[in-house]
Amino acid sequence: MSRIAYVDGRYVPHAEAAVHVEDRGFQFADGVYEVCEVRERCLIDMPGHLDRLAYSLRELRIAMPVDRQPLETILREVVRRNRVSDGMVYLQATRGTARRDHAFPRDARSTLVVTARALDRAAGDARAAEGVSIVTVPEQRWARVDIKTTALVSNVLARQAARDAGAFEAWFVDDSGSVIEGAATNAWIVTKAGVVVTRPADGSILSGVTRATLFGVMRAGGLAFEERAFTVTEAQEAAEAFCTGATLIVMPVVRIDGRIVGTGLPGETALGLRRKFHDFAHKTKV
Ligand SMILES: Cc1ncc(COP(=O)(O)O)c(C=O)c1O
Repeated sequence: MSRIAYVDGRYVPHAEAAVHVEDRGFQFADGVYEVCEVRERCLIDMPGHLDRLAYSLRELRIAMPVDRQPLETILREVVRRNRVSDGMVYLQATRGTARRDHAFPRDARSTLVVTARALDRAAGDARAAEGVSIVTVPEQRWARVDIKTTALVSNVLARQAARDAGAFEAWFVDDSGSVIEGAATNAWIVTKAGVVVTRPADGSILSGVTRATLFGVMRAGGLAFEERAFTVTEAQEAAEAFCTGATLIVMPVVRIDGRIVGTGLPGETALGLRRKFHDFAHKTKV
């Protein structure tokens, strides 16, 4: 079956899907994106992703390419046309196509691209059953990491550093040794006292939609959690660590910079949160 992409009002074969060479997404990374999990033909947490999309666009003064209701229809339609039952839908909106000039073009229309693809759910579960390794890297990103922009080259280099070291994810660390977040995930620990800790969304991280839903899971389960910074050493000495992201859900971490975390096996808290996550997430049928 051939894949289908949505590009500016048209559903086209994936292999032919293209934007102009002077699209500002290509020229300047002048755009934003969202990734939403698809699970059992449902879009997971779509309202949260669309709220964050609106925030990112507003902060960058990019016009919403289409209204929210038609956008939801497009996301569902791309998932449906690609027959994805477990996987992801990706959307990117840029400031549009215009003659190259750094300042905003006067009359460009935002570009909208949507793609979807299947992901191997069993492979994700198998990875979670083993846990993943983390390497830490110095924070090198711009100051507006609260915006989900496509300007991801620092994240690309960080994730490659992880890959080169045989690890799964890289955690950015600030000058004081505090963990900020992953290249494409939020970072968490569970203290020996059983308190779940993650950094506050104070502008230094991307406010994860998975992170927000997980707060709901923990509230409902009566699990103590705290939003505060933690250091790499505290994470290495914690009972558990884990990452969250839309397609990863909750991914246990068993090693940080070569040091084993906890027992070296995925922790019960992380695995429990992973199991319960979808009972709490907002689901929209495709
Ligand atoms: C830098 C960064 N932090 C955190 C996340 C997790 O966000 P979400 O849970 O909304 O996928 C992402 C997701 O791509 C990310 O890129």
